[in-house]
Amino acid sequence: MTHAFGIDIGGSGIKGAPVDLKSGRPLGERFRLPTPQPATPKAVAKVVAKVIEHFGPQAATLPIGLTVPAIVTHGHTRSAANIDKKWIDAPIVEIFSTVLDRPVTVLNDADAAGLAEVHYGSARGNEGLVIVTTLGTGIGSALIYRGVLVPNAELGHIQINGFEAEKRAAASVRTKEDLSWADFAQRLQEFYATVEFLFSPDLFVVGGGVSRNADKFLPLLQLKTQIVPAALRNHAGIVGAAWAAAQPSEDI
Ligand code: BGC
Repeated sequence: MTHAFGIDIGGSGIKGAPVDLKSGRPLGERFRLPTPQPATPKAVAKVVAKVIEHFGPQAATLPIGLTVPAIVTHGHTRSAANIDKKWIDAPIVEIFSTVLDRPVTVLNDADAAGLAEVHYGSARGNEGLVIVTTLGTGIGSALIYRGVLVPNAELGHIQINGFEAEKRAAASVRTKEDLSWADFAQRLQEFYATVEFLFSPDLFVVGGGVSRNADKFLPLLQLKTQIVPAALRNHAGIVGAAWAAAQPSEDI
């Protein structure tokens, strides 16, 4: 398998592209449509179909992987922190495969980003425990030990000093509260120090749009663990989803 199709479903946009699985790069420009409102699973599936259609009949023959901002177990989404509540316990694989008329692979968005970083990005070749975090509307996380994903880690929801971590330290909170980089770093320090104590990882990788400005806040963190920006930036979800779609399901 050399190519697969990746779709990244977010709160504001649904983005997709065919991906070259050798290099881990999208083949050409990704295509984006706005996330429908309300973003129910069925409404989202219809927009996903349009994103795939944009790439013509060839795309229809590729394995398809989709990321969702929710816990995914046994073909169902189980949470909906930053998306329509209809996602809770939705039979998401059935919904997507019915609307798209073919088999699909569905996984958590941060898990997809984690797989992309481990296979093609900043964590490539790491033989220990890698924790990939995505700082966006919420905080997503992926635990990958010796190259194998432990799916659905929800570290953005751990309680620190009485607050859910993502309510204090997501990139969206920095914007909303107009935090300086130093204040943002202070909040990230609490988060990463707690996660470091709980898991003793070998490497943290920091993704999400704000990782573009990693030099403004990562050097301010004081951790024992190496912490580096994500390499795939805003392609990580698409690339990780495509990679996952090309695996025999028990190997993700
Ligand atoms: C959700 C995660 C998701 C993350 C990033 C969190 O609020 O609980 O499942 O990975 O946001 O979208």
